[in-house]
Amino acid sequence: MIPAAPRPFCDDAKRGEGDHERIIMCGIVGYVGGQSALDVVVAGLKRLEYRGYDSAGVAVLADGGLASTKKAGKLVNLEKALVEQPLPAGTTGIGHTRWATHGGPTDANAHPHLDNAGRVAVVHNGIIENFAGLRAELAERGHDLASETDTEVVAHLLAEAYSSTGDPAEAMRQVCRQLEGAFTLVAVHADEPDVVVGARRNSPLVVGVGEGEAFLASDVAAFIAHTRSAIELGQDQVVELRRESVTVTDFDGQPAEVRKYHVDWDASAAEKGGYDYFMLKEIAEQPKAVADTLLGRIDGSGALHLDEVRIAPSVLREVDKVVVVACGTAYHAGMIAKYAIEHWTRLPCETELASEFRYRDPILDQRTLVIAISQSGETMDTLMALRHAREQGAKVLAICNTNGSTIPRESDAVLYTHAGPEVAVASTKAFLTQLVACYLVALYLGQTRGTKWGDEIRTVVRQLSEVPGQVERVLETMEPVRALARSLAHKNTVLFLGRHVGYPVALEGALKLKELAYMHAEGFAAGELKHGPIALIEDDLPVVVVVPSPRGRSVLHEKIVSNIQEIRARGARTIVIAEEGDEAVVPYADHLIWIPAAPTLLQPLVATVPLQVFACELATARGNEVDQPRNLAKSVTVE
Ligand code: F6R
Repeated sequence: MIPAAPRPFCDDAKRGEGDHERIIMCGIVGYVGGQSALDVVVAGLKRLEYRGYDSAGVAVLADGGLASTKKAGKLVNLEKALVEQPLPAGTTGIGHTRWATHGGPTDANAHPHLDNAGRVAVVHNGIIENFAGLRAELAERGHDLASETDTEVVAHLLAEAYSSTGDPAEAMRQVCRQLEGAFTLVAVHADEPDVVVGARRNSPLVVGVGEGEAFLASDVAAFIAHTRSAIELGQDQVVELRRESVTVTDFDGQPAEVRKYHVDWDASAAEKGGYDYFMLKEIAEQPKAVADTLLGRIDGSGALHLDEVRIAPSVLREVDKVVVVACGTAYHAGMIAKYAIEHWTRLPCETELASEFRYRDPILDQRTLVIAISQSGETMDTLMALRHAREQGAKVLAICNTNGSTIPRESDAVLYTHAGPEVAVASTKAFLTQLVACYLVALYLGQTRGTKWGDEIRTVVRQLSEVPGQVERVLETMEPVRALARSLAHKNTVLFLGRHVGYPVALEGALKLKELAYMHAEGFAAGELKHGPIALIEDDLPVVVVVPSPRGRSVLHEKIVSNIQEIRARGARTIVIAEEGDEAVVPYADHLIWIPAAPTLLQPLVATVPLQVFACELATARGNEVDQPRNLAKSVTVE
């Protein structure tokens, strides 16, 4: 039972000096209703663990007090702690799962943070830049701060503001007005047993509205098992949740406009569904994800209707340059988009790492179309790149998988991919759907600008509509790839080669292997081999080669067949991904992976799949955590 005592039921109320932490990526959950808050919050955190898995914590309101437990490491550590020392039952609570940026993943640095009296608990996603000044002021006013953390400052400020207002939402607004930086906050106060308050700046915060209950979370996945009715909060808004009401205001207390929506996937989409890992499930879902992303965007005559692209056709006709910005796997999709956009629209297109983009003073104006690709819609580098582009007058089109996330909200238009929730940290189905969206945008630009005839568009659209079936076939033939991966588990290095759109595919294959198998993996443009990388080739070194179709640009095909011979002559063990029936590669392949025939530009949609399976199996064979690779988190909301 919770005594009305001032000390928190917190396993780490004291922590060392100087451990200033900055929490930038994490998952947040809040609940008020009739169920056990602990059960709802912990289940929600499980669904959000992909956002960070360095530490986790919960706080519940019960018996007039507040109880909290937090633990370093994965959520399972917190669950164990809760079994060993159960918290009292309550129906209002909050929780947090953390990805550490600054400040180690310790019990002390885990959230929630409490005020000295243990009456306020707060979880936080972001950085409070002026926390040092606020902390000094709190100390002058007699507060005893146990740590150097910015989040603890918020707990104290909230306690102070509540004691003068007696209103948790007003207290949150007062505090937010004092804070600088990025802060998404969720808090509870022991005096308000049926209230959870939240504030959003920058990182996402979504409300779930149920019958006599309400939820707050970084992602709808946290509450999808309870309700599919959601409210998207905007920048600089404060929300007060009670069992029967949700009230949203701006930081000044003015009622705010919010967007209500129905989540169009259900809880099963966010579960493993019989697979050992989310990644395996998500690889298997790719045919459907591709089909869903095409759905409703092509009319009976084969013309494209991208209703979401709200940029007027007259503006698109004036565009004289396209710039694609993205990070990681999404950047590889952007590299492939460049080939399609230039080929189909004859517009110059640059693809740039979002993290580099704004630092090189790019040349942009109102005739530039910037395409920002992001699964999560939260990647900070991509967000900063698009903000920079808009400041220069460019129009920004987002390609995104997460409804209502920051990147589409801040763009002029958005084309959503319909991959459904991607939970595994390594991106798979999102990548394929990003490619589909890029092809659609390229064709749409061609259609709008008249550089593509209707029958040409119809041909590509027909070829795209065959992709789900082709990916299905690839997936059915993956057992030899898995066996090969297992046989290579002891290797230290794998290289990947490709040409044209096969080059970004090679980069993607290498990235998957690095992040999942923790192996040294490099992707090269095969034409660059002789300019240096060929020196890496040694006896039995596995080299995966992505071979373009022999039917399309045969010169590309001839050149890569020569590259395979060159590396094999130097001892490489060649693993060749080639189109069914491509006999020319057979004599030089130590291992052959056949993929269905696809036009050159679309080949990445089928060629990437074996590389995903390969990396996943190698990771498993090496005993690695497939869904949650070390040091990574799903959404990189820090620059
Ligand atoms: C790799 C991977 C990352 C993301 C990158 C961008 O498997 O998932 O490289 O692609 O962090 O993330 P989004 O697409 O959310 O912007």
